[in-house]
Amino acid sequence: MKKKETILVIGAGGQIGTELIVELRRIYGSSSVIAADIKTPGYEVFEGGPYEILDVLDHRRLYEIIKKHKPSQIYLLAALLSSTAEQNPAFGWKLNVNGLFNILEIASKRKIQKIFWPSSIAVFGPNTPKVNTPQFTITEPSTVYGISKLAGERWCEYYYRKHNIDIRSLRYPGLIGHKSQPGGGTTDYAVHIFHEALIKKSYRCFLNKNSALPMMYMPDAIRGTIELMEAQSERISVRSSYNIAAMSFSPKDLANEIETHITGFKISYKPDHRQKYADSWPVSIDDSFSKNDWGWKPKFNLKKMTSDMIHNMKKN
Ligand code: SER
Repeated sequence: MKKKETILVIGAGGQIGTELIVELRRIYGSSSVIAADIKTPGYEVFEGGPYEILDVLDHRRLYEIIKKHKPSQIYLLAALLSSTAEQNPAFGWKLNVNGLFNILEIASKRKIQKIFWPSSIAVFGPNTPKVNTPQFTITEPSTVYGISKLAGERWCEYYYRKHNIDIRSLRYPGLIGHKSQPGGGTTDYAVHIFHEALIKKSYRCFLNKNSALPMMYMPDAIRGTIELMEAQSERISVRSSYNIAAMSFSPKDLANEIETHITGFKISYKPDHRQKYADSWPVSIDDSFSKNDWGWKPKFNLKKMTSDMIHNMKKN
């Protein structure tokens, strides 16, 4: 255990939150990490330390919680992902942007040392260079989710410049983990496929077989997030959001890898509305700013991730 920090994690019951909270509590101590979510979180989050019920859009309650716990750091993870936001654009925009705005406003008035907010590869769009997508390039997202994340990035940089708020952000690729269920994203086929492979030995994929996308295994994502948050402020040159990468693969590549563990696994393809979101996103990401500024280095490739996923899912 190290450092005296009080950390508030909003959206602690979600895909990233459930894993991040466990790691933060291990590092900073259980009582120093407050989980907050609109719903009562799952057992591990709920039992592991303090928690608060919070709708990040409820400004008053948010203020109360911040007054009560006086966090030195806030991780704001509450959001709607690409597919869910597309079904409810008004709410997707409201939650993803106003939620962030509420936090930035409070941070400009109270002493909060650091904020983490996740962006996404969805900030890129059909006119973005697809391969090795640079940090600074055409964005023009075509999904509600991507538009909200791009707006959020601009707000982060604005509040950093105008109010000197130390906000840090990553453009996560598709995240793959075994601790939570798929959460309404386009890249979530790469989570769902493992569940179905173990139960049914088959999976019908909603993307076509060659749709390669940037992906990352959750342990890398959690480690990268905490490393970014622990880096010296002077080393953070990007105050919108950092490109970050680990691997890129298509549904077919993943299915082939799963088949090496689950003999007879079969995949079929029936692309739906999510195909066009995937088509608008990069195939691979240039993350040299993350590497050079704060030393990012992934540990998991497709092979290692697949074998670790299957090992852990079988165990549970
Ligand atoms: N995982 C996100 C989604 O598919 C993209 O960042 O919505």
